[in-house]
Amino acid sequence: MRVLANQLGKKIGKQVELRGWVHRLRELGGKQFIVLRDMSGLVQIVAEPDKVDGKLDVETVISVKGIVKKDERAPGGFEVHGAIEVQGESAPDWPFHRYMSTELQLDKRHLWLRSTKMQAAFKIRQTILSASRDFLAKQGFWEVAPPILVSSACESGSTLFELEYFGSKAYLSQSSQLYLEAFLPSLERVWALTPSFRAEKSRTRRHVTEYWHLEPEAAWVDYEQNMTLQEDMLKHIIKQLLDKSSDALAEFGDRAAELEKWRKEKWARMRYGDVIDKLKPKFPKLKWGDDLGTKEERYLVDHLDSFVFVTHYPREMKAFYMKVDEEDTKLVLNNDLMAPHVGEAIGGSEREWKLDLLKENMKIHKLKSADYEWYLELRKYGSVPHSGFGLGIERLMMSLLKLEHIRETLPFPRFMNRVYP
Ligand code: 4AD
Ligand code: MG
Repeated sequence: MRVLANQLGKKIGKQVELRGWVHRLRELGGKQFIVLRDMSGLVQIVAEPDKVDGKLDVETVISVKGIVKKDERAPGGFEVHGAIEVQGESAPDWPFHRYMSTELQLDKRHLWLRSTKMQAAFKIRQTILSASRDFLAKQGFWEVAPPILVSSACESGSTLFELEYFGSKAYLSQSSQLYLEAFLPSLERVWALTPSFRAEKSRTRRHVTEYWHLEPEAAWVDYEQNMTLQEDMLKHIIKQLLDKSSDALAEFGDRAAELEKWRKEKWARMRYGDVIDKLKPKFPKLKWGDDLGTKEERYLVDHLDSFVFVTHYPREMKAFYMKVDEEDTKLVLNNDLMAPHVGEAIGGSEREWKLDLLKENMKIHKLKSADYEWYLELRKYGSVPHSGFGLGIERLMMSLLKLEHIRETLPFPRFMNRVYP
């Protein structure tokens, strides 16, 4: 029976069958040394030339029958000595070499997915998502299915992808939030994981045009409880990563100490106004009312060496649905969560749940009521105080894995200049 590369510990001295792809190969002293890759990891295979049935190249699919030996020098700590049978040939011109450009990794993405880095990133994503699901279920949230083809903007109209929809206009969703709000009188606490789309014209290290958006929305939750929920969820994710994904995590260097630190301490909450004051000496041109850019956000988290919630942004800067702070109506009851190494990873807020105040906000944001008729009706029939947030899964991965660029978090990242392959 077939075993996986990471199951050899219990098979020392025994005969096993392995299947997988040739990750690396070389000949040494008349013997074939192959690093075989399967979904679980890598293992070194040693075969005499007469025990190889077929032509070997990088990415050839093979099956191996042999004896497991312990070997500290081999990847994973084991070697399998035996015979190799070729099941699927591979052309000799595999495009990746030791020194290769990022462009090549993007042009040949369909093949680059086989790299150990990508393989580890996919495993980390799975742990993050199952930990989130697990956490939200325990917190009494229902997972729901909002639409992706939508009729109006949730966030800024300037980043909407428009499409022709049977003779009229439709858009690709930027956020499920408005639809999630419609579920509240039915399920009270809901969440969704969907692709979100932003027609981002700028090229930065943390923007893609298509990303995975995890959005909870809950009745009778205020903006402070909303932050507690975010902090608890992310700490649960970190714990699960440390407990369940240490092998995949190791592909990204020594992440455990920093993750452990973030998990243990309480995350600071700072008002936008205080953040501006704090950043002023370093960024003299920054003034109240300015958006925080990547540089400012990074400085803040580097300085604090942890996650930090920034609250009470100026009303004009933020979306129309955010609840105005009654103590200072220039501000909204919101939070951005700044994550180390990346900056904003979550945007959240208490929502304006009163019809007249919501209409007033829409006026300030120059939005037409007619475009949001259904959304306004939610305030007409049994509206309830509520809050929610949106987590960018890729931004979170960048932070937790300390990645320089968002492309490393996605199998097929989409940018302004790339939708291929
Ligand atoms: O701050 P944003 O725009 O908030 C919303 O869309 C809210 N309606 C969410 C909600 O309250 N339910 O986006 C939320 C998060 C950001 O903090 C960021 O992590 C991610 O989505 N994000 C992007 N990630 C990658 N590339 C982009 N172009 C992104 N735009 C937003
Ligand atoms: Mg935001």
